[in-house]
Amino acid sequence: MAEETVEQRPRTKVCSWNEWDPLKHVIVGVATGTMVQAPEPAMQRNWPQYGFPYPTYGPLPKEMEEKANEQLDQFAALLEKRGIRVDRPTPLDFSQRVQTPDWVQDSMFGCMPPRDLLLTVGPEILEATMSQRSRWFEYLCYRPLLEQYFKEDPEFIWSAAPKPRLTDESYYSKTFWLDFERLSEEEQIEKHTYRKVWNLTEKEPLFDAADVGRFGKDLFVQRSTVTNAAGISWLRRHFPNHRIHEVTFREGAPMHIDATFVPLRPGLALSNRKRVSLEPELKELFKKNDWEIVECAPPARDKKPPLCYCSVWLSMNVLVLDPKTVCVEASETAQMEQLDKLGFEVIPVPFWDVAPFGGGLHCATADVYREGTLEDYFPKQIPGF
Ligand code: ALA
Repeated sequence: MAEETVEQRPRTKVCSWNEWDPLKHVIVGVATGTMVQAPEPAMQRNWPQYGFPYPTYGPLPKEMEEKANEQLDQFAALLEKRGIRVDRPTPLDFSQRVQTPDWVQDSMFGCMPPRDLLLTVGPEILEATMSQRSRWFEYLCYRPLLEQYFKEDPEFIWSAAPKPRLTDESYYSKTFWLDFERLSEEEQIEKHTYRKVWNLTEKEPLFDAADVGRFGKDLFVQRSTVTNAAGISWLRRHFPNHRIHEVTFREGAPMHIDATFVPLRPGLALSNRKRVSLEPELKELFKKNDWEIVECAPPARDKKPPLCYCSVWLSMNVLVLDPKTVCVEASETAQMEQLDKLGFEVIPVPFWDVAPFGGGLHCATADVYREGTLEDYFPKQIPGF
């Protein structure tokens, strides 16, 4: 009996080179225990209108958590029904205080958005450094899964970027975000985005996995409030067989590329209609290789929900299941219509209750296996980009 169970256990294969090949195995996050984080140099939450004025912190309300978990579970069930294997992380007690020899942090964050932490490139899953102390231990939520994949797939390459020290030297100021939120978005762009300098210094490599857009041999990595130049340099050395393109978009506080510039299928990418690329080379590269970039549809909302640090542009944070099928948040009718016209089967997924827990459909997932091989979709390169 026991032997039969062992033989029937699905054998894992880890491999995913891009965001569109047929998805067969994915991790979907869990909302349980997510916190409004305690202040730290990397992050100061200040939401007096929702009961969390700086410097207070604590778990997101239980009724919000239940609704989010319901939508996450329904999304996982929908994927399973389509034959996609779904794994879930194991939440920790995120309200606990954590420490390293360098610092003490009064709370952790959560494990809803696996995309932030796990970067799958071919047979490798790389744990990103992250740049917030409250997220330093988040990798532990995924260790049961990664240990299992390691046992089941002899070709799985499991790696972790150097754990950052995150001492005060990694940040310019302990109150950066309180000062930053007083600026208009235009001032934020002038003072920070054009200079590509927010709160992270270049003391050590820092990046979130969600700042990486995977297009086969080409990886587009966003310089952002959570990814510094050293982080991109580290990725370039770690993936010497890939071409790493550093990109920045016209946005005050960029964080994660997947509500800004999103591949849909070979030859087609979706770009945020408001966040224009600061590198003209990006458009040139796409044009030279016969890729079309379409502007996303207008989002359904003009305001983000309470206790949400993500933007209304989660409207374009879609999960592509294969080059003909895409999951879109169910209330984003304009975005659904646009993708329908572009020839996709569109699957509506109710998901806005998940947003305050760290993102949309793409953020809430991390690829384990997509069919397909490593391809060069941009054989004609732009020198220096
Ligand atoms: N942080 C990204 C946004 O909200 C996903 O635009």
